[in-house]
Amino acid sequence: MRLSDNTLLITGGGSGIGLALAEAFLQHGSEVIICGRSGGRLEAARRRHPALHTKVSDLSDAAGCQELARWVADRFERVNVLINHAGIQRDIDFTSGAGEFLAGDNEVRINLEAPILLSGLMVPLIAGKHPAAIINVSSGLGFVPAARMPVYSATKAGLHAFSMALRRQLAPIGIQVFEVVPPALTPALNPEARARRPRLQIDLEPAEFAAVVMADLEADVAEIGYGFSADLIRASRTEIDRRFEQMNSQW
Ligand SMILES: NC(=O)c1ccc[n+]([C@@H]2O[C@H](COP(=O)([O-])OP(=O)(O)OC[C@H]3O[C@@H](n4cnc5c(N)ncnc54)[C@H](OP(=O)(O)O)[C@@H]3O)[C@@H](O)[C@H]2O)c1
Repeated sequence: MRLSDNTLLITGGGSGIGLALAEAFLQHGSEVIICGRSGGRLEAARRRHPALHTKVSDLSDAAGCQELARWVADRFERVNVLINHAGIQRDIDFTSGAGEFLAGDNEVRINLEAPILLSGLMVPLIAGKHPAAIINVSSGLGFVPAARMPVYSATKAGLHAFSMALRRQLAPIGIQVFEVVPPALTPALNPEARARRPRLQIDLEPAEFAAVVMADLEADVAEIGYGFSADLIRASRTEIDRRFEQMNSQW
């Protein structure tokens, strides 16, 4: 897809990979809208990049997604790209039942339901534009699940399946569907849990990963990975089983 002269909505674009992609698209001459729950985080991003448009938005329920899509439709007639980037990650232990799952933010709603609903809400807004694209940010853990993050891993596997199916459905109406599959990056999602695992060494910055994503988007690579995650996208079932054992040996 073309990298310049787009109008993109990036969910959760106030930090991490989303902010790095926002910066990269701005540099290519595109217009970028970012959203998230924290107004302070969005404001800090706008101070660094005054061209950014920002919207405080909580995507953990359908009403929040609908309100965001209406807000975009009312203000950005040229919108042609949705990046479903917002996400959370939790360690959840089911050995004592559903207590931990019920106690915190709901990954199924934020990581899976929101991208599904927003994709549907944005299709009528982006259809007919050139290019028109939906870019879903999944995870290497959607291909090889982490035992300590069973729900997170499931939401990302779900987003992978949704992306494949949607790619086929939307091709006839000219909407490209990309899946971005990040490996582990710094700064980390789920920082408290990562701090408990000091052996985990991560030295991939969001800007470095965003540069890879931009090059692959321009080359129309449908499933974009890097390093570990690029291997997983193409891995056989035998290889996935091997990686699963390696990654989850401590559980
Ligand atoms: N970092 C990694 O190692 C890694 C690896 C694989 C995949 N990923 C995926 O990449 C994406 C971003 O990760 P990241 O590392 O860039 O993390 P991040 O910096 O924490 O970004 C996540 C963004 O999502 C927003 N968000 C969370 N819940 C939201 C909600 N209910 N409504 C609206 N926005 C919400 C957050 O903003 P607010 O808190 O202000 O709402 C934040 O800006 C996620 O989908 C993640 O699963 C990350």
